[in-house]
Amino acid sequence: MKCRKCGEKAVINMPQHKLALCKQHYLEWMPEQTERFIQKYHMFGREDRILAAVSGGKDSLSLWDILWRLGYKCDGLYICLGIEGGVNYSAESQRLAEKFAEERGLRLRVYDIASEHGQTISEINARTSRGQNKPCSVCGMVKRQVMNRVAREEGYQVLVTGHNLDDEAAVLFGNTLNWAVGYLARQGPVLEANALGLARKAKPLCRFYEREMTAYALLSGIEYIYDECPYAVGSKSIYYKEILNKMEADRPGLKLTYYLSFLEAKKTGAFIKPADDEKEGMHTCPTCGQPTTAAGECSFCKMMTKIHGA
Ligand code: AMP
Ligand code: FES
Ligand code: ZN
Ligand code: ZN
Repeated sequence: MKCRKCGEKAVINMPQHKLALCKQHYLEWMPEQTERFIQKYHMFGREDRILAAVSGGKDSLSLWDILWRLGYKCDGLYICLGIEGGVNYSAESQRLAEKFAEERGLRLRVYDIASEHGQTISEINARTSRGQNKPCSVCGMVKRQVMNRVAREEGYQVLVTGHNLDDEAAVLFGNTLNWAVGYLARQGPVLEANALGLARKAKPLCRFYEREMTAYALLSGIEYIYDECPYAVGSKSIYYKEILNKMEADRPGLKLTYYLSFLEAKKTGAFIKPADDEKEGMHTCPTCGQPTTAAGECSFCKMMTKIHGA
């Protein structure tokens, strides 16, 4: 497989984009694409102060790296949850986030749940009614709350997270299975601030596959925590990701189409408003007189014309 831009040996093949690239061109392609998505979805500008929530994982550190390379003003926020399982998960991810910031001369804010609230996530979880379960739902809620608070209190124009396409497709899958209309209405590359005190949020990596993010982190030499949170094992989101990956293997591009078609449906309003035949572009086919949404002749008539070779 050869790089499409220079003909050298490719290090990554992306069948969903019909594109293979060498290391150098891949490391250029990622920031270019990210910039394109930032513009397309009106995420933020060069003048905005951005706060990147970084977990020490490949996605959020790559995101911070890309925004830094693109010249955006971006600080990091690491939330220390106090999760000790596996490889001493929180301490190790904090070390890597700090190392990353130091190497680039970037500012990292650290918010330590235990020193701010007297208890780690695992302890808080054990004390709440949700405590019989894994701490993930408590943890998710605490993270969202802290990110929002720091972004607002410190005057950042936007909060960015490292959610990639696999994350977004899995969330979308879960939301459609439950037909969670409220969540579906709020899912997207940008979530606007609201009067109730929600900070503006953006997900600049939402169109990149997880494997593209892994490749970027490895090729650009970012040291990140390989392990997932020890509590994530057996989670629904991992289960949905596995199912989507099986479908993706048979139909490259499926995850991207799934997510982009959802965004498109939302944009046109078709997703929220039920279609009204007469107003929403239905009309009568001039050939057969049946109702159709196609422009001009209906698809049946078009097909018939084609097979009869007229
Ligand atoms: P996750 O929910 O673990 O898949 O993480 C999604 C995104 O949330 C990451 O890409 C980060 O931007 C952010 N994030 C997760 N954990 C932390 C953390 N401990 N501190 C700061 N940001 C985090
Ligand atoms: Fe919060 Fe795993 S990161 S429970
Ligand atoms: Zn090349
Ligand atoms: Zn017709």
